[in-house]
Amino acid sequence: MERIGVGLLGLGTVGTGVYKALRNNQDVLLRRTGQLFEVRKILVRDPYKTRQVEGVQFLITTDFHEVLQSGVQVVIEVIGGLESAYAYVRDALTAGCHVVTANKELIAKRGKELEALARQKGVQLLYEAAVGGGIPVLGSIGYLLKANRVHRITGILNGTTNYILTEMEQKGLAFDEVLRESQEKGYAEADPSSDVDGHDAKYKLAILARLAFEAEISLEDIPCRGIRGVTSQDITLARRLGYAIKLLAQAEQYGEKGPISLRVGPALLPENHPLAGVNGVHNAVTLEGDWVQDVTLVGQGAGEQPTASAVVEDVGNVLRLPRISGSTVEHPPVLSGAEEGGSRF
Ligand code: NAP
Ligand code: HSE
Repeated sequence: MERIGVGLLGLGTVGTGVYKALRNNQDVLLRRTGQLFEVRKILVRDPYKTRQVEGVQFLITTDFHEVLQSGVQVVIEVIGGLESAYAYVRDALTAGCHVVTANKELIAKRGKELEALARQKGVQLLYEAAVGGGIPVLGSIGYLLKANRVHRITGILNGTTNYILTEMEQKGLAFDEVLRESQEKGYAEADPSSDVDGHDAKYKLAILARLAFEAEISLEDIPCRGIRGVTSQDITLARRLGYAIKLLAQAEQYGEKGPISLRVGPALLPENHPLAGVNGVHNAVTLEGDWVQDVTLVGQGAGEQPTASAVVEDVGNVLRLPRISGSTVEHPPVLSGAEEGGSRF
């Protein structure tokens, strides 16, 4: 049987999980896709680092061209950051490889251009792992859009901050201490200010809104505040009054092809709100459509295994989908948070 060559860019939290999942769940992938996937090269920054998976040393390189020259059909980008990741993904697509990425910043900032390149080359660019960790939220949007106009998205889209808020409340731990813990667990970004200042959630909201509303979304149009200003006293007081504090991402479209409002920031949710009880590293997304009414998806929003699950789902789909996902077609007016008024919650 022909083996599909895979190039893995990055062997950190997510890359390690992806390597293990491709190796350990080979039988599952084979049964579901009829294909065998084989990692041929792994790109890293430091070739001397001790790795958490055995038997990878002979695959490791620091030269991206070696990855492309190793006969790969699929490139998985899990290095993170913008410029290097962009150059590698662009070059992989240009070389005719399918690309799977978990990089929300890359897709939020350069997704449109990269998707156009993928279309031109007749290959796939898939990024389920970029939003919601293990939750198959992008796939669900694609599914819902066959019958619905989605008009509202409400989500807890960052695992690190939800973990921090939960641990601060339940264990009385200090912000810095829990942030350190979430870095050790592999939840946080390389630069965790992206998590705590809300930018990671903003990138994810932009990706969701672009797909769900089939509209161009500019990151500058998303007012964004993180959780640095939230204290243990705030959380305790909110709880006494019957509320939970969550970093909430919200997007709403007013009428078909109408204006869109988007925002990310801490919000008070009444305790009986469906997202108020979503704790720890879990993420949740509620999608509201004209026929389905509302659907809420909940699951692990970060970490090695859930994220690897989403990446490998895309790998399984990459040779089977007829054309690339996501298209940006229209640009309805985008309201800033201030124009639209305060939070609905
Ligand atoms: P990470 O643990 O920091 O790992 C990054 C890996 O990429 C490391 O192996 C590093 O090499 C390599 N790398 C970084 N820059 C490189 C460069 N310029 N050239 C070659 N290799 C480079 O990061 P991660 O947590 O796995 O996250 C990776 C991506 O997945 C990010 O886009 C992140 O936003 C996304 N993501 C993460 C999670 C999560 O839970 N962690 C969930 C969803 C999405 P060395 O090992 O040699 O340092
Ligand atoms: N740093 C991100 C988070 C990883 O905590 O949600 C998952 O995208």
